[in-house]
Amino acid sequence: MNDTVLAALNDQINMEMYAFTTYLSMAAYFEAEALTGFSAWMRHHAEEEMVHAMKIYDFVHHRRGRVTLKALAAPTTTWSSPLAVFEDALHHEQNVTASINALLDLATKEHDHATASFLQWFVDEQVEEEEVVDTALQKLRRVKDFAPGLYMLDRELGEGSGGAEEEAEAE
Ligand code: FEO
Repeated sequence: MNDTVLAALNDQINMEMYAFTTYLSMAAYFEAEALTGFSAWMRHHAEEEMVHAMKIYDFVHHRRGRVTLKALAAPTTTWSSPLAVFEDALHHEQNVTASINALLDLATKEHDHATASFLQWFVDEQVEEEEVVDTALQKLRRVKDFAPGLYMLDRELGEGSGGAEEEAEAE
């Protein structure tokens, strides 16, 4: 594999694993706040990030590349409100999208067509990733601190937090 592309793919694995810890930390925050629906939603989202990391991990090995894992930065552990959590999550997704786009640009520049083709899945996935976080964020903005609204949204997100079935559909 092209060394520059390989290094960038390894960085992306690190970023996806950091996303896993970030969303799991958000899930733990919601758990502590007794918002179990939000927590289940975030936990499911965290698990998807590990799937993303492992997709790249497997791809690198399929190409006879070497995966090198690095230390993960510590995630944020507390937020001022559920709204702040989702604002942070959307910002994080936008950073991931920018990183995937830069990686695709690099693969194209290096004429690495296999990596460019592989990354197309992530380009499409990021559209969905940003959309689901943004949809929850917009609902939270409407609810603000209105407790009954927050309770209903907690139930709604808990019911739609996915699981094995939804995951299988996404594959
Ligand atoms: Fe793997 Fe949510 O980006």
